[in-house]
Amino acid sequence: MPKFADRIKTMEGTATIIRDLFGAMTDPNIISFGGGAPAKEALPVDALHKICNDVMADPALSITALQYGNPQGYLPLREAICKYLLEPKEIDCDPERVLITTGGLETMNLICQIFINPGDVILVETPTFVHCVEVFEMFQARCVSVECDDFGMILDDVEAKIKQFHPKIIYVVPTFQNPTGKTLPVDRRKKLAELGSQYDVIILEDDPYRDIRYSGTDLPPIKTFDQTGNTVLANSFSKIFSPGARLGYVLATRELISLFFQIQTATISHTSMLTQVLCAEFFHRGYYPDHLKKICQIHRERCNKMMECLDTYFPEGTRHTYPDGGLFTWVELPGGLDTKELLPEAIQRKVAYVAGEGFYTDPGKGTNAMRLSFSAVLPEKIEIGMQHLGNLFRSRL
Ligand SMILES: Cc1ncc(COP(=O)(O)O)c(C=O)c1O
Repeated sequence: MPKFADRIKTMEGTATIIRDLFGAMTDPNIISFGGGAPAKEALPVDALHKICNDVMADPALSITALQYGNPQGYLPLREAICKYLLEPKEIDCDPERVLITTGGLETMNLICQIFINPGDVILVETPTFVHCVEVFEMFQARCVSVECDDFGMILDDVEAKIKQFHPKIIYVVPTFQNPTGKTLPVDRRKKLAELGSQYDVIILEDDPYRDIRYSGTDLPPIKTFDQTGNTVLANSFSKIFSPGARLGYVLATRELISLFFQIQTATISHTSMLTQVLCAEFFHRGYYPDHLKKICQIHRERCNKMMECLDTYFPEGTRHTYPDGGLFTWVELPGGLDTKELLPEAIQRKVAYVAGEGFYTDPGKGTNAMRLSFSAVLPEKIEIGMQHLGNLFRSRL
């Protein structure tokens, strides 16, 4: 076997975490708070059943769906994104500045191809979304973590680290963050966009959870404060439509979109036309507003159940977020409990979570923390799983 490329070594740590995460998610005997999948009841099966039939019965649409397509993405889908997802948030957009990606994660890959040489710095939150860090590491970027408080990135530290490390990109998940469920307040969103412009850094705003809100008020995306094109908005259809459809999009300047276009064409040609057509039909036929209400309702109930169980079953001194939306809560255990060490025992008790350590780019942090996802577990199973975890943690104190 020839020697592997250097990037395989840099990706090793994060790759193991992601493998474990999917492993626990797919075992039917385990109550898994591990993955980040939406509830299966929140997938639009009936609507898609009808749309699929209609599309295949339509002589023109069926061919569009099954043929090669425009590398920038199917125009009706880019129009739907502007009309139904971006304009309601007062984001200045037009379909020419939108490119369709194969899931939100592809945007991370494409943007690294545009900006990242080995050793270039990307500032990330503490803790941050491990899957994107894996992509950044594949490009041999150096991920430097920014201090965060209960509301996300502390901007004095962002500015200090911009001056110290001269990053190319600042990666941020501003709404119901993965893994913590925290939301960046509006003043920090505005300031972050300004810092991007002032220091000529890309603010990579990754916002797949923003519409899945259970309480509180909607906040403007960072992109609405961008005056110079330095903020790039990445989003995904995984949580509001279907993760299996592998659809995402990116909004950026025309200049950047033409580079995204060039690189995507060179790597995968374009995103699946079949899923783009189905998704565009879903939005243009007006299914989205009711669907969104339904998915918020399903996930809100699960979120509430998990909050209740945390307060009932977990040991005294446990700290956790009360997310206003999204799919995750972040838990910190008292008494020096080590979540990575306890995970095999939790799995023996048929419950899985993701240990916190893997979400930090600095070793040794988050040993007492864990990410819990409530989205894919029925409320009655949440109760059972949380009781088992609570008993385990209490017994170790
Ligand atoms: C913050 C964040 N960004 C990106 C992604 C990737 O999403 P996709 O399934 O669209 O690739 C996820 C998925 O969980 C996520 O949580």
